[in-house]
Amino acid sequence: MTASDQTSLALVTGAARGIGLATTRRFLADGWRVWMVDNDGDELTKAQADLDGTVMTVTDVSDPDQVAALMADVTAQEGGLNALINNAGLADFGPIEETNFARWRKVMATNLDGVFLMSQAATPLLKARQGAIVNIASISGLRASTLRVAYGTSKAGVIQLTLQQAVELGEYGVRANCVCPGPVRTKLAMAVHSPEIIAAYHDAIPLNRYGQETEIANAIVFLASPEASFITGQTLSVDGGFEATGVGLPALRTSAGDGS
Ligand SMILES: NC(=O)c1ccc[n+]([C@@H]2O[C@H](COP(=O)([O-])OP(=O)(O)OC[C@H]3O[C@@H](n4cnc5c(N)ncnc54)[C@H](O)[C@@H]3O)[C@@H](O)[C@H]2O)c1
Repeated sequence: MTASDQTSLALVTGAARGIGLATTRRFLADGWRVWMVDNDGDELTKAQADLDGTVMTVTDVSDPDQVAALMADVTAQEGGLNALINNAGLADFGPIEETNFARWRKVMATNLDGVFLMSQAATPLLKARQGAIVNIASISGLRASTLRVAYGTSKAGVIQLTLQQAVELGEYGVRANCVCPGPVRTKLAMAVHSPEIIAAYHDAIPLNRYGQETEIANAIVFLASPEASFITGQTLSVDGGFEATGVGLPALRTSAGDGS
């Protein structure tokens, strides 16, 4: 059986809320089936309750044994995967001198180890359907900022890991791409974005606003879909123009507001 003979199947990590839940909904709207994976069983149960075409499983993506058990289930029940969306992530912002090794490891374990473990374990399933990996990094993996020593470094690692995956798995027809969201008002962001950070983002983003979960999901689902069949090894910023921005945007806005 080929991928075109069957309903496409995506596995989305961090699917209980935020960008992962929006991505799940977008896949379902496009006629895909989705395995929803999260380590928060209560949130996942609530999120999945009214979503037909989904299977939910409580898994910590940073735990090799749990990841192996999950992929054994997917193998037994599905036999292959069209897309793996490595979206599960956590943020912990702090100065370098206050980021002790436990805090550093906690961020790395989910954000970087989790992407490595899930992708490695899913590789035979992706090969079976010439599937695609979409890793969710962050603009913090492309541009350095204060307080993100662990978070930003973990996301830069995800960007490089995506390149490794694209280069090595291309010969099996498996694609790998990376989405770098700009700020989105999810639980993750609101836990670490102070009023000062929110104001600074507005100043630095040409579109002058936070993004929405659905705007990130649209890019993720595109890169996972056959529409992107010749795209691999790419990093796509979905950030309102943040990555393109240099200095001077607030001053320009002020002078434009003055009519000068
Ligand atoms: N929101 C933003 O501004 C923003 C910006 C850039 C990048 N991102 C990235 O987007 C992704 C999604 O973030 P979000 O903003 O939707 O956050 P969120 O906190 O709303 O959702 C993250 C989900 O991941 C789950 N999760 C966390 N650790 C896990 C683990 N070890 N195993 C399984 N599930 C786990 C959480 O339970 C939660 O449901 C993250 O990788 C994040 O770093 C978010």
